[in-house]
Amino acid sequence: MPKLQPMPEPNVYPAYGIYLLEPKHRSIRRLKKEYQPSVHGHKTWDSSFVLMDYLQEHPIAKGARVMEVGCGWGPASIYCARRFKAKVTGVDIDPDVFPFLDVLAELNDVKVKQRVSRFEKLKGKELGGFDVLIGSDICFWDNLVKPLYRLISRALEAGTKRVIITDPGRPTFHELCELCRGKFKVELTEWYALEPARNEGEVVEITLV
Ligand SMILES: C[S@@+](CC[C@H](N)C(=O)[O-])C[C@H]1O[C@@H](n2cnc3c(N)ncnc32)[C@H](O)[C@@H]1O
Repeated sequence: MPKLQPMPEPNVYPAYGIYLLEPKHRSIRRLKKEYQPSVHGHKTWDSSFVLMDYLQEHPIAKGARVMEVGCGWGPASIYCARRFKAKVTGVDIDPDVFPFLDVLAELNDVKVKQRVSRFEKLKGKELGGFDVLIGSDICFWDNLVKPLYRLISRALEAGTKRVIITDPGRPTFHELCELCRGKFKVELTEWYALEPARNEGEVVEITLV
């Protein structure tokens, strides 16, 4: 995909073929007065760029059905919709993240379906309708490890083909990878992004054995 040129408008920056907004962009400042995401969904996290870089090297099929869990502002969802014309659903526990996702989706001329739910509530029947489950920086508390492990199990057992999660490399993320290793094929790799700046992290791809 050709690299995007920086936009003439201030506080807009390109990365991996999509446009993103700096915290001081007028739309973000306006939204922040009304919506305050409270479970760390208050910005675009660097692991989302690691995920974009990984997907550039290990692409998903064109038009694939993708669910992003813990999507926050949805940078990875928007990347998948833009780059792979994926049919993407972004899921988050916190409804206050979605107005930010709306602004970014509109800026990039893509649609991302939205769903408010916690990991625990997503059933196998729904999860199995997605080819790929993605997430970036979603395993940051001890009490998220088991719900995520169970979510991944439900998805793979219901027919999801690939689960791909990126992380800065937290112990809780490693714990999740170890749990999955007992039951699934787990490929854990160090990875880095180069856009919008160098960011190091890790990626795990989990599939049925
Ligand atoms: C660190 S942010 C990452 C956001 C986004 N993935 C990114 O990389 O920019 C974690 C996100 O997970 C969501 N989250 C936390 N616990 C959750 C749960 N139990 N179920 C669903 N979403 C959850 C938060 O609301 C937040 O948007």
